[in-house]
Amino acid sequence: MIWLIGRNGMLGSEVAEELDAHGLQYVGTDRDVDITDFSAVSAFAERNLPQAIVNCAAYTAVEKAEDDGERCRALNVDGVANIARAANSVGARLIHISTDYVFHGNGSRPYREDDPTDPIGVYGLTKRDGELAAFEANPKTWILRTAWLYGKHGPNFVFTMLKIMREQPTRKVVNDQRGTPTSAKDLARAIRLTIEREPPFGIYHFSGKGEITWYDFAREIYRQGREIGLLPADFDLRPCSSGEFPAKVQRPAYSVLDKTKIETALGIQVSPWKESLARFLTAIKESEETHA
Ligand SMILES: NC(=O)c1ccc[n+]([C@@H]2O[C@H](COP(=O)([O-])OP(=O)(O)OC[C@H]3O[C@@H](n4cnc5c(N)ncnc54)[C@H](OP(=O)(O)O)[C@@H]3O)[C@@H](O)[C@H]2O)c1
Repeated sequence: MIWLIGRNGMLGSEVAEELDAHGLQYVGTDRDVDITDFSAVSAFAERNLPQAIVNCAAYTAVEKAEDDGERCRALNVDGVANIARAANSVGARLIHISTDYVFHGNGSRPYREDDPTDPIGVYGLTKRDGELAAFEANPKTWILRTAWLYGKHGPNFVFTMLKIMREQPTRKVVNDQRGTPTSAKDLARAIRLTIEREPPFGIYHFSGKGEITWYDFAREIYRQGREIGLLPADFDLRPCSSGEFPAKVQRPAYSVLDKTKIETALGIQVSPWKESLARFLTAIKESEETHA
């Protein structure tokens, strides 16, 4: 049996669907088993004796984290340590989700799993410390680092752009941060395959294939959205620099992840980001037509 933590979040919901679709038995929890409470986490593990635990719960508000460091650390470090300790005591394997924000973002080639981490904000720092805490408490851990995640169950860049493109005449989008979007559905599949195929424990990178800016991503959302009749004809999209959107936290300028290790370990080909986006937009269109 699998214990899916953070089951109601954007990724957790997608993992639940993936496990359901493949007939894998799981029990899902969210805030009802507070990961910052070790006794609650441990009692749940003892009662259910999972063979594998997937942790999708986290503090994910990157900007807010700058002023809310204590809470962010409670979830992303202490919460992860609690889960890993509980996993270790019942002999469960742990899959924990981490982020490209563990890197500084001043690189110029895709980040590999063994590249040195050097986070630049509170969120990234706590996610990096969470990785260390997970391995320390439970050596039987896989960490999947991902980036630029979008899915149908939570707020994300694609939904934001679709709304803006439908309601406003123009928008500027930053063109100086490079990375790769990741479909939560694709990542959920990689999580399921990790449980089934059991590659060596350690860190793995997973995101879409390719390398673009947020502006490129917005442009393709618009192009595909128009093509399938999801978006109106008139919209003016413009590139700009990050400096035009003052923010509390600096975001990595370069956060492309090298996926060679997970492709080899799981025997998969990571999907090109445009293809994943096409599947996502088609599903949105079908869902809107069904509910119209
Ligand atoms: N989103 C991205 O772009 C992105 C990029 C890279 C990596 N990641 C990583 O991917 C993972 C999944 O992200 P996501 O976007 O799916 O996150 P999400 O939608 O924010 O989901 C997190 C879930 O955890 C729950 N939660 C909060 N506090 C909890 C607690 N004390 N105990 C138990 N559950 C609690 C949340 O509930 P509430 O909603 O009620 O707070 C939510 O349902 C995270 O590890 C994140 O760091 C995300």
